[in-house]
Amino acid sequence: MCGIVGYSGKNEASSILVEGLSKLEYRGYDSAGVAILDDGKINVSKCKGRLVNLENKLKSSPLKGNVGIGHTRWATHGEPSDVNAHPHNNNDNTISVVHNGIIENYMELKSWLKSKGYKFVSETDTEVIPNLIDYFYNGDLLDAVMKAISKVEGSYALGVVCSNEPNKIVAVRKDSPLIVGAGKDENFIASDVPAILNHTRDIYYLKDKEFAVLTSEGVEFYSNEGEKIEKELNHIEWDANAAEKGGYEHFMLKEIYEQPKAIKDTMTSRIIEDQPIKLDDINITKEQIENIEKIYIVACGTAYHAGIVGKYAIEKLARIPVEVDIASEFRYRNPIITKNTLMIVLSQSGETADTLAALREAKSLGARVIAITNVVGSSVSREADDILYTWAGPEIAVASTKAYTTQLITMYILALFFAQNKNTLTNEEIENIKADMLKLPEKAKEVLDNKERVQKFASNTYMHKDMFYLGRGIDYAVAMEGALKLKEISYIHSEAYAGGELKHGTIALIENGTVVVALATQNDLYEKMVSNIKEVTTRGAKVLGITVEGRTGMDEFVDSVIYVPKVNDILLPVLSVIQLQLLAYYVSVEKGCDVDKPRNLAKSVTVE
Ligand code: G6P
Repeated sequence: MCGIVGYSGKNEASSILVEGLSKLEYRGYDSAGVAILDDGKINVSKCKGRLVNLENKLKSSPLKGNVGIGHTRWATHGEPSDVNAHPHNNNDNTISVVHNGIIENYMELKSWLKSKGYKFVSETDTEVIPNLIDYFYNGDLLDAVMKAISKVEGSYALGVVCSNEPNKIVAVRKDSPLIVGAGKDENFIASDVPAILNHTRDIYYLKDKEFAVLTSEGVEFYSNEGEKIEKELNHIEWDANAAEKGGYEHFMLKEIYEQPKAIKDTMTSRIIEDQPIKLDDINITKEQIENIEKIYIVACGTAYHAGIVGKYAIEKLARIPVEVDIASEFRYRNPIITKNTLMIVLSQSGETADTLAALREAKSLGARVIAITNVVGSSVSREADDILYTWAGPEIAVASTKAYTTQLITMYILALFFAQNKNTLTNEEIENIKADMLKLPEKAKEVLDNKERVQKFASNTYMHKDMFYLGRGIDYAVAMEGALKLKEISYIHSEAYAGGELKHGTIALIENGTVVVALATQNDLYEKMVSNIKEVTTRGAKVLGITVEGRTGMDEFVDSVIYVPKVNDILLPVLSVIQLQLLAYYVSVEKGCDVDKPRNLAKSVTVE
């Protein structure tokens, strides 16, 4: 949802900014731009489309200078165009701004600034900011940014430069992510760590309405009240290569293949044979767990789908009622929350605006909040009462894969932890599930080693306009994720339906040749699912069946069957979803789509 980066140092800013933006393109790729200070002047280069367009522009007209800001855009206000691309300047081009977020009162500010004689060239909300800063500027950029921000409503992460203070970047955030990187004779701002990982691993996390002033010599931090503050420096341990493609054609494929390791890392020190589950970052007590009356799992997109699997797991294993909600719906529906309500938020990035707002809403109503997130230090992790990190490593492809499977693992861990505390399962039952969980990395690898059938099905079906995904119970939750993966990266219309619900309307869409992916992995629902599959095959559907190894006979009534290794039924989503991720991936490749950067999407959605 827009990526920003900034550099103040001794090297040429242009290449460092572009390199940083290339690591942030997952946040949006409608346009890109940089503003670089040179000899008391701000020079801007920006253009519509992918970063490569900006790179070409900079090759033919390079910009010199050691201080600058950069932006990659996911359009909200104003279509993707050169003029709407960031950075945006004030009228006399002495102040330049990059912005991630939405200025909600920009119309009002715009007309006020117009009444003071300011002119606007773009349709963006952002353009009010450099002009507001200009209005307040009196020789002190930090002071002017603070005054401007006090007039602004909405969300923002901002990088600001001014030609009168040529060594400096002023940065501030509210509800949009922003980090500060500390190097030797150089300092950085960025929306996310990978953008600057090649230059520094020493990071400061800005809190809402904290300001940073960067020069090549150092970084100073200020509170919203203008008082100087000290901040803790965090050292990032990630391997920089983790954010590179490492020989794979796409990040998505690399991340699909990283799942055996990611699943293992998520379980490390949490699931150990013959030892009770211990969760270091969780402080919720046994008594609090026993008193939980209801759990809300709240998330968006793929994380929401992981939450649905979580519902099945918690209800089945720990016998606590669970409601799963889409974050943008939850916050506006006046949810019933008491002190015995637990909220679990799931978010890969930990920055999704809707999820964060739902978390705040639940906390303000007195609920305890557990966050499951992949990003250490993210907003969600800072604001929740308890945190469970998924330890999937950086996920770069817009379509989420390893984040989803590690979210599933974390949900199982939590469900077993609750079951252990509530004694809803015997020790033996818990140990049996744990034993199967520990086999999942190896079983996931088996799925990946046998991808030919799904690849073949993709090459036979990629030209279709619609695909339907069917499943019952926990398979229905996986079907939803499979359908989302396909539509995200191949633009094929795909929908998931509960097997038993199809006959109540949707079956009218099934005709000769309609493609149906049918999940039938659950033992207790297998026969029912077979009937549902037959309902579509008799109407001419072309069916890919997914079931568990050892189950025979499905190939007699579907076009193609793929098998997943046998583990406890409740854990099967971890394996069956990998088949669906591969299906979506290969269909997208066959169609020649941009797998890692699908149209209109952004990985981290930090606006409402
Ligand atoms: C965006 C992404 C999805 C993701 C969702 C939630 O829409 O395109 O892939 O599932 O945000 O993101 P989160 O970081 O909160 O898991």
